[in-house]
Amino acid sequence: MDTTTNLTGPMNLDESLKQLRSATVSGVAAAADLETLSAVEAGAVGRESPIAAARRNLGKMAADERRDAGRLINDVAKEIEALVGERREQLQAEAREQKILAEAIDVTVDYAELVTGRLHLIQQMTDEVCDIFAGLGYHIAEGPEAELAWYNFDALNTPVDHPARLGMDTMYVDYGEDENGMMLRSHTSPVQARYMEQHEPPVYIVAPGKAYRNDTIDASHLPVFHQIEGLAVDTSITFSDLKGTLAEFARQFFGSGTQVRMRPHFFPFTEPSAELDVSCFNCDGPGSSCRVCKGVGWLEMLGCGMVDPNVFEAVGYDPEAVTGFAFGIGVERLAMVRHGIDSIRHFVDNDVRFLNQFPG
Ligand code: PHE
Repeated sequence: MDTTTNLTGPMNLDESLKQLRSATVSGVAAAADLETLSAVEAGAVGRESPIAAARRNLGKMAADERRDAGRLINDVAKEIEALVGERREQLQAEAREQKILAEAIDVTVDYAELVTGRLHLIQQMTDEVCDIFAGLGYHIAEGPEAELAWYNFDALNTPVDHPARLGMDTMYVDYGEDENGMMLRSHTSPVQARYMEQHEPPVYIVAPGKAYRNDTIDASHLPVFHQIEGLAVDTSITFSDLKGTLAEFARQFFGSGTQVRMRPHFFPFTEPSAELDVSCFNCDGPGSSCRVCKGVGWLEMLGCGMVDPNVFEAVGYDPEAVTGFAFGIGVERLAMVRHGIDSIRHFVDNDVRFLNQFPG
């Protein structure tokens, strides 16, 4: 601000007051804090200010001049004081605001953004299959992964001299009295025996879980994999119930146009036994250059069959009174077929570039 304005000099008082006023207006507006504002105020209307000097000068004036000059000076002084007052309130409010902000407690914690996990594709497949069977009236059952030979083999009509019992395929656990008594279950089928032992028929269950085999790792084998066991036992269950149930599952899982076919197979605990193929969902049938079925038109899906009477006997059911079917779905295989995954190893590599492709 121009503090050199001299209201007592030769310049016309009116002009000089105008200059003082405009210099003060910009000074007030530019004042960024209360101290600067007070300095501007003192410079314009304080004891050493041009206004004060002009007032002192009034005494030297003629009476008629004095009245007009006095009014002029007072008007400008009032205006300046009003401006300063307004700005002072503004600055005080800002200062209060600053103080509140400075004293505020920040209740938010600065945290690293957490990436939400998601279900592994294998779990997604398991849930989806279990949901389909739950919709058909099945319950979910479970069994231990460290299993007794009795449930893994004997109760399932798999005698001691059966090739599946040779140490080659099964991982035994050194526990308890009989060193061959406990193993990591080689399939989820022991849950069949355990469940029937504990429950009266009718039985409609699916049992998802891990299975263990002493296999060399390659594109389609892992020593730990997942199965979903199915078991239905009632008074008049037939092979066509088995086929119809699995066809319904296949249609819900792969699409409503899906066909199924069964090929004879062998499992110790089912008779007759079969493997179920589903028509390829990716092509129009055999002869194509389909990447999913390799042109076969069919995809091998699961093992199944009618529960062997010996199994019923082993768990205390009357083989004359009930019949049933069982099936075992390989979960990794399901996922590989559906998503065209070329190696089972992807499921355990835990490469997020693979896993993120299946957000669920
Ligand atoms: N447990 C068999 C396997 O792991 C699959 C299966 C289950 C077959 C139930 C028939 C009935 O190969």
